[in-house]
Amino acid sequence: MSYAVEGLGIEKSFVRKRSLGQLLRDPFGRAERVHALRGVDLQVGDGEIFGLLGPNGAGKTTLLKILSCLVLPDKGQARILGVDTADEDRVKPQLGLVTTDERSFYWRLSGRENMRFFSILYDVPSDRRMARIDELLERVGLTEAADQRFSDYSAGMKQRLSIARSLLHDPPVLLMDEPTRSLDPAASLELRAFVKDELKARDRKTIILATHNLPEAEALCDRLAILIKGKIRQEGSVDAVRAFGLETHGYELEVDRWPGDFSGPAQVHKTESIPDGTLVQLSLTDGAELGDLLSALMHAGVAVRRCDRHESDLEEAFTRILDAEEPDDSAKPGGSGRQTGGAV
Ligand SMILES: Nc1ncnc2c1ncn2[C@@H]1O[C@H](COP(=O)(O)OP(=O)(O)OP(=O)(O)O)[C@@H](O)[C@H]1O
Ligand SMILES: [Mg+2]
Repeated sequence: MSYAVEGLGIEKSFVRKRSLGQLLRDPFGRAERVHALRGVDLQVGDGEIFGLLGPNGAGKTTLLKILSCLVLPDKGQARILGVDTADEDRVKPQLGLVTTDERSFYWRLSGRENMRFFSILYDVPSDRRMARIDELLERVGLTEAADQRFSDYSAGMKQRLSIARSLLHDPPVLLMDEPTRSLDPAASLELRAFVKDELKARDRKTIILATHNLPEAEALCDRLAILIKGKIRQEGSVDAVRAFGLETHGYELEVDRWPGDFSGPAQVHKTESIPDGTLVQLSLTDGAELGDLLSALMHAGVAVRRCDRHESDLEEAFTRILDAEEPDDSAKPGGSGRQTGGAV
């Protein structure tokens, strides 16, 4: 099977930057290296929105830079639509990069002038250039503000122009680095809807989205990878990643009473008195089914008024994944492998 984006054992280290104080104290000291990526394998299917999640410094931006030909990996390979990113001339037309780096725009130029500049850089044919720019400015809602200076744009407008710029050459693959960072909640929701309805559903783009925002990843992504200290620790559908570390499904029950000596097939996590009854949170013991629990409750004379699955959210799963992280595994590349088994 061929993938839209593929990473094979990608490793990257940088020389750690030293402060002026460190340089003065030890001018000839050996330069330390930071292992930003330590053997990343990645497969993103055509038309997928793939989330890249991880704490600060996990390596998300470095990975996106490697995929977009801005940085070369030390080891391993990245491929876009089957072409190695070392072949920049063939790969770049397939890619659009959306970053929060506002310095990549010309602040004294208007939105439209910026777009004109980048359209030349991206080889948009001159006879189609102006129509393409107008169409994209319209799609991201910047038609009226097109002739305002970029420096006068709000954070949301700057971000929308960044998306419009990435679409100039109509690339099939988009790489988005924290596209909603610094946006207010309303602007974030608007941008999310644009990604889902326009870029995915209408344009059928393949998108890799690096984000810290877990609800955003939950709402947008078909699959996710959790990157920690340069390695992918979990990967799979949102549901599978959410279920990490939960061997069985959890349930929340509302019952008329809870017998203290209940010995049914469940591990009880919490009981709480509510008007006329008890609220119970539990998970099934290994191999048990919900039906087994319900019949055990019936035999014990307990009336069940409500029984719902208690879903773990991505935030809880993310915390469990961080807790499961091996503490001594960050020093060297190629440490222990990623986990994809079990729930994922
Ligand atoms: N050009 C560079 N020179 C030195 N170190 C670098 C360079 N670029 C990245 N790093 C280091 O590599 C590691 C990964 O950085 P990266 O920016 O990829 O993380 P990130 O997951 O994008 O973090 P954030 O969530 O804060 O954006 C960090 O320790 C960072 O300091
Ligand atoms: Mg980053």
